[in-house]
Amino acid sequence: MSDCFMDTYKRTGLVFAEGRGARLLTDEGKGFLDFTSGIGVNSLGHGHPALVSAIATQAGRLIHVSNYYQTREGLAAAEALCRASGLERVFFCNSGAEALEGAIKVARKRGNGMDPARNVILALEGSFHGRTITDLSATGQEKLRKHFGPFTPGFRHVRAGDLAALEAAFTDDVCAFLFEPIQGEGGVVPIDPAYLQRAAALCRARGALLMADEVQCGVGRTGSFLASSWAGLEPDVVALAKGLAGGVPVGAVLARGEAATVLGKGDHGSTFGGNPLAMAAVGTVLATIKGEGFLEVVAAKGERIMSAIRSWGNPVVKEVRGRGLMIGVRVSVSPDEVKQEAIKRQLLVLTAGEDVLRLLPALVITDEEVDEGLEKLRDTLGAFTGSQGP
Ligand SMILES: Cc1ncc(COP(=O)(O)O)c(C=O)c1O
Repeated sequence: MSDCFMDTYKRTGLVFAEGRGARLLTDEGKGFLDFTSGIGVNSLGHGHPALVSAIATQAGRLIHVSNYYQTREGLAAAEALCRASGLERVFFCNSGAEALEGAIKVARKRGNGMDPARNVILALEGSFHGRTITDLSATGQEKLRKHFGPFTPGFRHVRAGDLAALEAAFTDDVCAFLFEPIQGEGGVVPIDPAYLQRAAALCRARGALLMADEVQCGVGRTGSFLASSWAGLEPDVVALAKGLAGGVPVGAVLARGEAATVLGKGDHGSTFGGNPLAMAAVGTVLATIKGEGFLEVVAAKGERIMSAIRSWGNPVVKEVRGRGLMIGVRVSVSPDEVKQEAIKRQLLVLTAGEDVLRLLPALVITDEEVDEGLEKLRDTLGAFTGSQGP
């Protein structure tokens, strides 16, 4: 491995050269089944013909103009994204971290406009909202924050599910409640819909914004365009990224109602945000995901994977949870070791939280690829049963 990189990632040593669907090939031609899709990014799998063609055509036509101008691709992507999500306006950026920064700026400007003391954002313990200092300030995981203080003030963390704590924390200085409907990095932890509905009601009653971080769980990942919909929520602000352009870097801050008009000229910006190359990719991903029956198939595939894993009765598996193709398998052994065993069987999986294997396959994964991956996963987990009791 090269010493030229900062040592920020626990790399596997694998070097990939190409991919098709849910399959990846190393530079030595060894094939792997990919149940990670680049941490939920390659929503259309690798080498999807429509996405490749849209990017290639767009690259030849126009890659970038500044945001002082519009492009056909940008207009089409913005309209398609507002239609798909049910929100009214969008700001495009380049990553999840930036999408969260944008959402936080909406909440802060609106709160400050109501009362200069109204600047606290409530967020959840166990959450992950990105790696910038302000996003880490919102993130409810001490292990990610420990070396990087001082942090941006104005964030307060509460334990998900604890209604009394939520009500106590919801003081007059709160301008927004920020949540992931399913916490991804925290361990694929679905947040109780009744708790989220109460948080939404408190936001309405107190004039605070309900802000969903759907960077990981949005854009069809759970079998619904927005995961917030499963809890019957209509957030004022939604942050998206990851799967939105199938692998081309993009992020989006969406807003509805009053929140949609908070940011005005000069309040925010991004040099690369909304460039036509990324927008062409967004258009293709949205057209595919919004196709007839697509999301139902995602939901059904997820159910099939989850019930297959449960049916193995493997004592190492403590719980299978998630929705659609965002799946967490809580295990009684080191998830990192399981990941390494899976690699020996040419299967790629992710970990999350302390004790969770995370599966985020491409939304277009075929039944055959699912079967093959499940077989490899069963075999992988089987390697641990001898050494571990229930
Ligand atoms: C819920 C959530 N928010 C924000 C982010 C940050 O996104 P990015 O890595 O694109 O900056 C992530 C990334 O994993 C995420 O899962």
